[in-house]
Amino acid sequence: MDYERAKAIVAKAHELGINFFDTAAVYGRGRSEEFLGRAVRELGLRGHVFIATKIPGDWHRRADVFKSVENQRRRLGVDAIDLIQLHWPSCWHNVPICETMKALEDLVERGLVRHIGVSNYPPQLLDAARRCLSKVDVATSQNRYNLLEREADKELLPYLRGAGISLIAWSPLAKGAVTGKYTAENLPPFNDVRRNDPLFQPHNLREAEPLIAEVRRLAGKYGRTPAQIALNWMIRDPAIYPIPGAKTPEQVAENAGAVGWSLSEEDWQRLDRISREVAERISYVTY
Ligand SMILES: NC(=O)c1ccc[n+]([C@@H]2O[C@H](COP(=O)([O-])OP(=O)(O)OC[C@H]3O[C@@H](n4cnc5c(N)ncnc54)[C@H](OP(=O)(O)O)[C@@H]3O)[C@@H](O)[C@H]2O)c1
Repeated sequence: MDYERAKAIVAKAHELGINFFDTAAVYGRGRSEEFLGRAVRELGLRGHVFIATKIPGDWHRRADVFKSVENQRRRLGVDAIDLIQLHWPSCWHNVPICETMKALEDLVERGLVRHIGVSNYPPQLLDAARRCLSKVDVATSQNRYNLLEREADKELLPYLRGAGISLIAWSPLAKGAVTGKYTAENLPPFNDVRRNDPLFQPHNLREAEPLIAEVRRLAGKYGRTPAQIALNWMIRDPAIYPIPGAKTPEQVAENAGAVGWSLSEEDWQRLDRISREVAERISYVTY
């Protein structure tokens, strides 16, 4: 994406009252952070927006955490990062979890970071991470959660609710799949990363059809779009923050229209039930 489009998306989001932006060091190898920082600066939004970013799981040694945050503050053009998240666990480097968490706590103490969060951590590891901390707690957990992918319901969400930790839901539109715009016969373009995503394999898109039919039925009933139905279903829980990705200002506007109204209890329950049934039939085994 070119910078001017990214800036137009940020401007539209701000205009509509969206003030939370999520990025990561690995998105475009620093480019996403640079674009967001530049747009926020040029639009004069720093006092109005909350910026969340992430440190990849490969950089969790203490010195690397400090070095990464320094680079990220520079790319974002901020004195302090509002929320720094560990993007995924240190799977391959075996860095002790307390080494990383204490480094983050030190960054908070130094005023270089305001809040800390994790992403893609199982509850057991999140619990261990929290026990390393003595001055602050983990504020957020960012995990995949949408109408077609609901593993977080089973163990993670109950843990987060008990701990008072907010869920930041990534891919809340299942990368567009919940809207029904992609089907087994109408896959994303050949060079699109989603062609390799298990959810976008024809067998899963076929399993998703009953859910998409219900989302579309509700869209017609409420005079909303499928994306708005999918997001409105999610925000019934005030501790869940969906972060839909937008490629155009129009998509931002559409997604912002998910708030300010509610599905009826009956419709929410029915959608939720169909979603649970369909999500269980999605298979990540692709060959
Ligand atoms: N922590 C992690 O490991 C992790 C992983 C993935 C994502 N994330 C975060 O989550 C954010 C969102 O995730 P995501 O982009 O993967 O998935 P998403 O939000 O579920 O889907 C976004 C995609 O859906 C389509 N779309 C957006 N609005 C739409 C609308 N109103 N109607 C129809 N289609 C619409 C767009 O693609 P097309 O127009 O091309 O169809 C867009 O790129 C990311 O930006 C990132 O910040 C985090």
